[in-house]
Amino acid sequence: MFDLVRNGSGGPATAPLDGDTGWPGLRGKRVLVTGGTRGLGEQIVRLLCAEGVRVATCARTARDLETLAAATSPGLFTRPLDVTGPGRLEEFVTDTTNRFGGLDGVVACTGGSRGGAFEQATTEDWAATWAVNVAHAARLVRAAVPHLRAAGGGSVVVISSISGWKPGPPAQYSVAKSAQIQLAASLARELGPDGIRVNAVSPGSMLIPGRRWDRMRREEPEAFARFVAAELPGGAPVAPQEVARVVAFLLSDWSSGISGAHLPVDRAQNAPSPDGY
Ligand SMILES: NC(=O)c1ccc[n+]([C@@H]2O[C@H](COP(=O)([O-])OP(=O)(O)OC[C@H]3O[C@@H](n4cnc5c(N)ncnc54)[C@H](OP(=O)(O)O)[C@@H]3O)[C@@H](O)[C@H]2O)c1
Repeated sequence: MFDLVRNGSGGPATAPLDGDTGWPGLRGKRVLVTGGTRGLGEQIVRLLCAEGVRVATCARTARDLETLAAATSPGLFTRPLDVTGPGRLEEFVTDTTNRFGGLDGVVACTGGSRGGAFEQATTEDWAATWAVNVAHAARLVRAAVPHLRAAGGGSVVVISSISGWKPGPPAQYSVAKSAQIQLAASLARELGPDGIRVNAVSPGSMLIPGRRWDRMRREEPEAFARFVAAELPGGAPVAPQEVARVVAFLLSDWSSGISGAHLPVDRAQNAPSPDGY
């Protein structure tokens, strides 16, 4: 059986490279996802639970976590916490590892933007946007590294955005999302010797029920059609479920050759065109 050759420091168990070519699945893996109660995070949690993963997730609203656990798996480990608060996130990583008997992956999904246009956004808006995107992701990985290393390696996925690789307002969000892409690539090099893979995923404008693009589609169909024609060569915004599948792939052994990558999942929304980048 031909298998991966490593540089002597071990690394995660991987799917064989020939012979059985079936999807290795994710059953039995242990994964922590931040921000799992809505939007993309919810779809990641739902997919991982359905795949037999032992999943932990956090958000600030306790009731949403209870609703999610009732709708997915009684084994879902949840904790209400603010990822920008001191210590709580690190504590949750340790408690998750203790509960599951180890850790195989983490997904930094919580994110967002505070404040408006450049001249209106305050220093606090910049700091809050940095904290919920970049600092939270860095702290999550730092807390997870000893546990991933103890498991022989693992997979880290940082959720960035198309705003992170094609500049656009609000600047505080664009800057934070591009920093997440650099963070993933930089950590991939630093943690690679421990068998820890780190990748960034950049969703395009996702069609999430009740959110911006879904509301526009229902309330302003002509404006939505113009947006799709101008921005979406694929003819439709990407669904969070589609992004969740890419995250699941990156957590799986089938992606063992991918680390330090930045994967847009945007149906070519950000692809350069003859009219410009
Ligand atoms: N929506 C898009 O079109 C889009 C496009 C590209 C990239 N993204 C990125 O994709 C990720 C998910 O976005 P989304 O729009 O799907 O998310 P969302 O609907 O805004 O949900 C955010 C999740 O994170 C939790 N959360 C927010 N702030 C938190 C905090 N300080 N501490 C702990 N939990 C917190 C929320 O629950 P609570 O409110 O209860 O805390 C919720 O579970 C983000 O990183 C975002 O930047 C989104």
